[in-house]
Amino acid sequence: MSDKNNKLIPMKNKTIFLMTAFIFIAVCSCKKDTSSSNTETELIQAHQAKEFDSSKFDVKIDSLVAQLTLEEKIGMLHGNSMFSTGGVKRLGIPELKMADGPLGVREEISRDSWATAGWDNDFATYYPASGALAATWNTEMAYTFGNSVGQELRARDKDMLLSPAINIVRTPLGGRTYEYMTEDPFLNKKIAVPLVVGLQDNDVMACVKHFAANNQETNRDIYDVQMDERTLREIYLPAFKATVTEAHAYAIMGAYNKFRGEYLCENDYMLNKVLRDEWGFKGVVVSDWAAVHSTVKSLENGLDIEMGTPKPFNEFFLADKLILAAKEGEISETEIDTHVKRILRVLFQVKAMGGQDRVKGSIATEAHYQDAYKIAAEAIVLLKNDNNALPLQLDGVKSIAVIGNNATKKNALGGFGAGVKTKREVTPLEGLKNRLPESIKINYAEGYLERYDDKKKGKLGDITLNGPLTIDQLDPAKLQEAIEAAKNSDMAIVFAGSNRDYETEASDRRNLKLPFGQEELIKRVLEVNPRTIVVIIAGAPFDIQDIGKKTDALVWSWFNGSEGGNALADVLLGTVNPSGKLPWTMPKKLEDSPAHATHSFPGDESVTYSEGILVGYRWFDTKNIEPLYPFGYGLSYTNFEFSDLKTDKEAYNATDVIEVTFTLKNSGAMDGKEVTQLYISDPESHVEKAAQELKGFKKVFVKSGASENVTILLPAKELAYYNEVNKEWLVEPGTYNIKIGNSSRAIKAEVSITIN
Ligand code: BGC
Repeated sequence: MSDKNNKLIPMKNKTIFLMTAFIFIAVCSCKKDTSSSNTETELIQAHQAKEFDSSKFDVKIDSLVAQLTLEEKIGMLHGNSMFSTGGVKRLGIPELKMADGPLGVREEISRDSWATAGWDNDFATYYPASGALAATWNTEMAYTFGNSVGQELRARDKDMLLSPAINIVRTPLGGRTYEYMTEDPFLNKKIAVPLVVGLQDNDVMACVKHFAANNQETNRDIYDVQMDERTLREIYLPAFKATVTEAHAYAIMGAYNKFRGEYLCENDYMLNKVLRDEWGFKGVVVSDWAAVHSTVKSLENGLDIEMGTPKPFNEFFLADKLILAAKEGEISETEIDTHVKRILRVLFQVKAMGGQDRVKGSIATEAHYQDAYKIAAEAIVLLKNDNNALPLQLDGVKSIAVIGNNATKKNALGGFGAGVKTKREVTPLEGLKNRLPESIKINYAEGYLERYDDKKKGKLGDITLNGPLTIDQLDPAKLQEAIEAAKNSDMAIVFAGSNRDYETEASDRRNLKLPFGQEELIKRVLEVNPRTIVVIIAGAPFDIQDIGKKTDALVWSWFNGSEGGNALADVLLGTVNPSGKLPWTMPKKLEDSPAHATHSFPGDESVTYSEGILVGYRWFDTKNIEPLYPFGYGLSYTNFEFSDLKTDKEAYNATDVIEVTFTLKNSGAMDGKEVTQLYISDPESHVEKAAQELKGFKKVFVKSGASENVTILLPAKELAYYNEVNKEWLVEPGTYNIKIGNSSRAIKAEVSITIN
């Protein structure tokens, strides 16, 4: 265990404890918390999201600013290398050092180009992608994730992690779906908040990205998002807001695109009015890489730090041009001081300055690999399991065919954008080899080739325009090899899906089809060996409808981190009972998804979010469209029964907290965890509302045959909608239905309450 973890356990005082407990109240308030080990629960509850203590450093900061020259100040406002801003040695101001990103701490990049720095001490833990983390539906896992990565960031002597990425999954085609968490704003914030808290516990800054309404890669440098204010507030902003107001994130990254006509790195409304004035953000706004378009305007409209590539650093908008603008009186030095002070404040806050004792961290340790394992194991989603195909029954099994390029494909690196250089990435094939008895022979066949139409253009797509173009014809020899392997084995597992060259930043996918001829491969393997199951490794929805009909078992894994292969093998063999749930809706066809049904993706220079608040399952449920697999869906090897749903009262005021209780019984033969989900609907509303909305969840461990009493606290204010006229959140009086279930389409019990 790390030094930092040990430091976390003591509670500072009772008040802090109560405040903190409140942050995690909806998920950690069970009378008897069985969702994971008590130590972890205590760890979270004992933790305080550190607030800015601005007054503490103000005198020092003022004195430093008074000693800085204009050039030194402006040097702090822009990149002086690919991933750092300028420091001022003579005054003890260090560079602010950053690293990407959502999969773990990115390898060291050269100071002035994207080339690797070629270090041999920057190997890191590859953590499950954010989609996987969200699929755990476990806030403690989110804390673990943040804390573990934070340790690694410190071991690399960095100050800021360019993470988490929390844009809403608006279209299943989004190239960064795997990097984002979910289509749902409530799940999004409940995972993002503990992640940021855990990360910042290590004297580092989270840089929450990409603020905001950045939901497609196509044309990302130019498109201008239009949406109504209510949609913005209810869908696209809640997680950003929560990371600022609850987790006190120290940094936010402005997005590439425009919002209502203004680039997001110079958007007065979003950066000054919403982020700072309304939410009280005290940290720094960092631009996405090369996302800045002006000098005076971007600074005045809320940007603090310009980062990017590829021009010389002094040619950045906030470099020589800003010095000139200041000298010519186009911008005041007081304005520049405001931004410099913000940077100094966060540097002090994370103890990068002032000789404070700072977390040292550790990297790629066995403990961190085990963190990655725990998350991976809880992220895997069991989509189908007919005839008890899983867990694999090995009695009498002498051989297993393992088929598919994805059985050996590694995803820590790949595609465009941030990956992780790691010494450990257990592939699915290696996981099976690690976990299967030696007596069972594995017959591996690659099955399909990962091939792109045109290596240069096709592989990464025309940047920000078209996703990679794949070659979908099977190679006859590879197919034959796979058929032989399947024929000659007692059972077969096909590993299909995608990879991080295909799902990648900077382009959206062209369609939902499984690439590289995988569907044909699966069909042909099933013909010769009906005892075939399919595992999909991917970060975003695919059309797996036909496959789902043909195979008995379908498992969804992710770009699932260093230990992904071991976690998967443990699920397939039943050592781990699957408990992941989809964090987004898997549509039957693309046109069923709201952005596509309303023909509002990808747009060209302007994109209007015509579906409004009906994003994800909100659309499917309101319009009565059957999804392939619904939001929140995932099977277990055991069965759960819900009963005795109650609320502590029948009527509440808008400021009350509704205590929802029910019994969860594990009526199957295996211990397991269930994600209990609380949805609300408001049948009497005077305004348009989605058929139902997630407003609470709790992951609960129940032993086989046992029952647990579960409590979910639902603050009545969660029932509010955003009233555009009054510019405020409003809880309408009237009757609301509270529904409990284990997916958005598996509601097990319902109860009504009244808001006075
Ligand atoms: C991405 C960011 C990333 C930055 C630095 C940009 O292309 O959008 O998420 O942090 O590059 O690598």
